Amino acid sequence: MSKTVALFNMSGGVGKSTLTMNLGFHLAENFKKRVLLIDMDPQASLTTFMGLEPFELPKTVYDSLLAHEPLPIVSNIFGCDLLPTNIILTQAELELSSELRREYRLQDILEKAREEYDVILIDSPPSLGLLSINCLVAAQYLLIPIQTEYKSVEATMNLLQTTYEIAQKVNRSLKIAGAIPTMYDDRTSQAKRALQTIEELFASLKGNQSFAEATVFPPIPRRTDFANATAEHVPLAKYAPRNPAIAQLEEIAAVVERLP
Ligand SMILES: Nc1ncnc2c1ncn2[C@@H]1O[C@H](COP(=O)(O)OP(=O)(O)O)[C@@H](O)[C@H]1O
Ligand SMILES: [Mg+2]
Repeated sequence: MSKTVALFNMSGGVGKSTLTMNLGFHLAENFKKRVLLIDMDPQASLTTFMGLEPFELPKTVYDSLLAHEPLPIVSNIFGCDLLPTNIILTQAELELSSELRREYRLQDILEKAREEYDVILIDSPPSLGLLSINCLVAAQYLLIPIQTEYKSVEATMNLLQTTYEIAQKVNRSLKIAGAIPTMYDDRTSQAKRALQTIEELFASLKGNQSFAEATVFPPIPRRTDFANATAEHVPLAKYAPRNPAIAQLEEIAAVVERLP
């Protein structure tokens, strides 16, 4: 039985897709886990980062969600399997609204796959529609990447409140595994303040059952190696094997690996 973790934040550009790819890689490479990555963002960043051409895909997660077709899994990209997407998934937002169990479609289509994988990582869209709700329902845990900037931290308070309220309605056992501060620039006082605010916020939420085990991970620095690795369609560890952020990615992967 797999554990399912969604990388979740309604803001775009915070590092969700990058982290999904890199954590998947380390779970497969370092921990020999059978990993499935799912791209639930119609912008298809993860699909592209993994080296696929979204418009050339004969089938995507859309076909499984709406047409009840078998999962069109692409096998073994950097040790991970991928359930890809493309822009057609945008239509799912509307079309799902008339479906039965519309919030549970992703959960339903993953039922069989859960036996074949140790870890399923879901890359969520930067919005709060039915696709996101499907991610919240299918996941057991959330990892929340947060950009270490003042405006992102403000948005995080809303994000956590809204996420919690939705989860109370559709998935009461959902747990927050942790926050991952991203794009950290330790030369700026703004980034340091943002990081401190994230830490205080999560410390204040410890009393809440969903947040009891939430870790605030050491911040991932802003480094051009990440963007370059993305452009080359490879994990950071393949692009810049000496980059110190690799040890941090491995540490987060280790925490995911140990989640009950
Ligand atoms: N730590 C980092 N430092 C520098 N650039 C990063 C970092 N993490 C991600 N990026 C880049 O920022 C862009 C947005 O990241 P992405 O993972 O697509 O965010 P999201 O999925 O939240 O929209 C990508 O081009 C990616 O290469
Ligand atoms: Mg993304």
